[in-house]
Amino acid sequence: TDIPALRDVVPFRHFGVAAEPALLYGEHGRLLDRHFSSITPGSQLKWDATEPAEGAFRFTEPDTLVDWAKARGKAIRGHTLVWHQQTPDWVFKDPSGADMTPTAENKALLLHRIETHIRAVVGRYRDDITAWDVVNEAVDEGQPDGLRRSRWFEIAGLDYIRTAFRVAHEVAPNAKLVINDYNTNVPAKRDRLYDLVSQLRAEGVPVDAVGHQMHVNVDWPSAAETEAMITKFLPLGVDQQITEMDVSIYTDSNQSYPSPPAASLLAQAQRYRDLFAVFTRYAHAISSVTFWGLADDSTWLDTFPVTRKDHPLLFDTRLRAKDAFWAVADPS
Ligand code: XIL
Repeated sequence: TDIPALRDVVPFRHFGVAAEPALLYGEHGRLLDRHFSSITPGSQLKWDATEPAEGAFRFTEPDTLVDWAKARGKAIRGHTLVWHQQTPDWVFKDPSGADMTPTAENKALLLHRIETHIRAVVGRYRDDITAWDVVNEAVDEGQPDGLRRSRWFEIAGLDYIRTAFRVAHEVAPNAKLVINDYNTNVPAKRDRLYDLVSQLRAEGVPVDAVGHQMHVNVDWPSAAETEAMITKFLPLGVDQQITEMDVSIYTDSNQSYPSPPAASLLAQAQRYRDLFAVFTRYAHAISSVTFWGLADDSTWLDTFPVTRKDHPLLFDTRLRAKDAFWAVADPS
């Protein structure tokens, strides 16, 4: 007999996974289809993939994922429109080819490029993509105002965020528009994100949801800190989404194990259990939970923050359900 289909036993409307075209086949494709009701292209919708040169849009790879998901009745999350990484250099060049300095002309040009990009990318998938990570990683709690000094911010201030949400809403009025970030469980960061979201919503900027990436590890964060992360945003009435979850077996950059210690895998399952118990308690406020990868044979953590083999997901390198799988299937 087969293991339970996770999407049937979890309480979330969308239960998702980041994927890439190579994963759609064989046993990987079968597991994606069986256990998940939502797909996020892991990198195929980022700016460097969709508009590597100005006006030269590429959609072959995201189309492959979107078509696969649509044919199987799955939701699709769009990731991501405006980020300080995986954005081509041309975006920040002025008409003479020099790096933009913060002038009024350059700001206007940068906002125009954001608008053109979002009209093309969001417009293409207007009927297919139900949630967009419109702005990714805008918060830096080390800054006095809590805002990351990205090139977007240096040139356009907060208007880069306002423009991105306004245009995305105009093009896809039914999509949930998300501001997404990591370490949102850390109180200082969480509070700066809260301040930003409440300011934007008070201004009428169409921010529908807060995205919690949830790149966490076997020891961190606690259930209490995770619960505080969710409850902080409840008074705003925003939707919340867990957008990129994985649980590293490592707790610092110096560790590297030839194979995953049994104790680490048990601690990992317990961390998944504790955090999913919290998500389940607030399932009415969390419209989707997404994992950043399917199985331990391929995870972005194999090269981040250093190169070493990690095992952060629900299926092992041979695609067998781990203890972590059973913790998510029944966290009570
Ligand atoms: C990662 C992808 O998984 C990698 O394949 C890529 O090389 C780098 O980006 N936070 C995010 C994601 O918002 O876009 C990142 O994805 C992981 C961290």
